Amino acid sequence: MEFSRISVFSCCALLLCTTLVYGQATSPPAPVALSPTPTPAPAYVNLTELLSVAGPFHTFLGYLESTKVIDTFQNQANNTEQGITIFVPKDNAFKGLRKPSLSNLSDDQLKSLILFHALPKFYSLSDFSELSTKGTISTLAGGQYALNFIDDSGTVHLDSGWSKTKVTSAVHSTDPVAIYQVDKVLLPEAIFGTNIPPTPAPAPAPAPDTDISPAVAADSPSAESKESSSSPEPSPSTSSSHRILNLGIWRQVVLAILAGGVGLFC
Ligand SMILES: *[C@@H]1O[C@H](CO)[C@@H](O)[C@H](O)[C@H]1NC(C)=O
Ligand SMILES: *[C@@H]1O[C@H](CO)[C@@H](O)[C@H](O)[C@H]1NC(C)=O
Ligand SMILES: *[C@@H]1O[C@H](CO)[C@@H](O)[C@H](O)[C@H]1NC(C)=O
Repeated sequence: MEFSRISVFSCCALLLCTTLVYGQATSPPAPVALSPTPTPAPAYVNLTELLSVAGPFHTFLGYLESTKVIDTFQNQANNTEQGITIFVPKDNAFKGLRKPSLSNLSDDQLKSLILFHALPKFYSLSDFSELSTKGTISTLAGGQYALNFIDDSGTVHLDSGWSKTKVTSAVHSTDPVAIYQVDKVLLPEAIFGTNIPPTPAPAPAPAPDTDISPAVAADSPSAESKESSSSPEPSPSTSSSHRILNLGIWRQVVLAILAGGVGLFC
């Protein structure tokens, strides 16, 4: 009698525990990739607005407006299938620029230099490693204004001859508009010539490390970082540890209840 009660109890406990384990284990880890806004794809991105809140990119935006290149960029973003990719130097990249400076450029040269910061096609960050295998890539400034992409084990570097810089972060990357922050102003050989000084950094370059952290901080309200913070990567580890914890607690609760029940029967 005693023995069969215990075996009934054990069976029940086992059954309950397995049901619990099964139920917990198959419950979905987390609502995957919940996009915060159910965007019905309004393709229009106001570049002026975007660049005035990110960054700070005020110097670049100032040049975009004074040269009217902003209209070219906005038109490319609005009205083409290919879209646009823009490399935007932060304000302190312009401050570090002394030799050569932009001050004695003609209006046309300045316009070309700003156009040189954009490619007439949308590229996501993952496209750059493929671009690095394609040699020089023409920019919106035209054929002889070309950039080289160098994939340095996952970090993308841009080489304009005069400027070698890395793509530090994505400000916006939703087809058709990609905007990436760069450490330096891109100086084209077509303007400054091929007589590039041997020292690759003509300006007293600010330490790249101090440059990155404010960039990342400044980016945090952007769509890109929202996407990455809601990405499923970090959640499984935390949710699975919660699951294990919950399971432990539940198993104890069930056993306690069952033990109580058995106590009543005995
Ligand atoms: C784009 O944004 C700027 C700055 O917020 C604003 O002045 C301009 O009117 C906007 N353009 C359009 C077409 O909405
Ligand atoms: C881009 O599209 C917006 C919204 O449709 C429009 O207001 C703006 O004038 C367009 N700009 C260009 C340069 O096409
Ligand atoms: C700017 O001025 C410097 C010094 O006068 C000169 O060497 C350089 O060629 C000028 N740059 C351009 C693009 O005219």
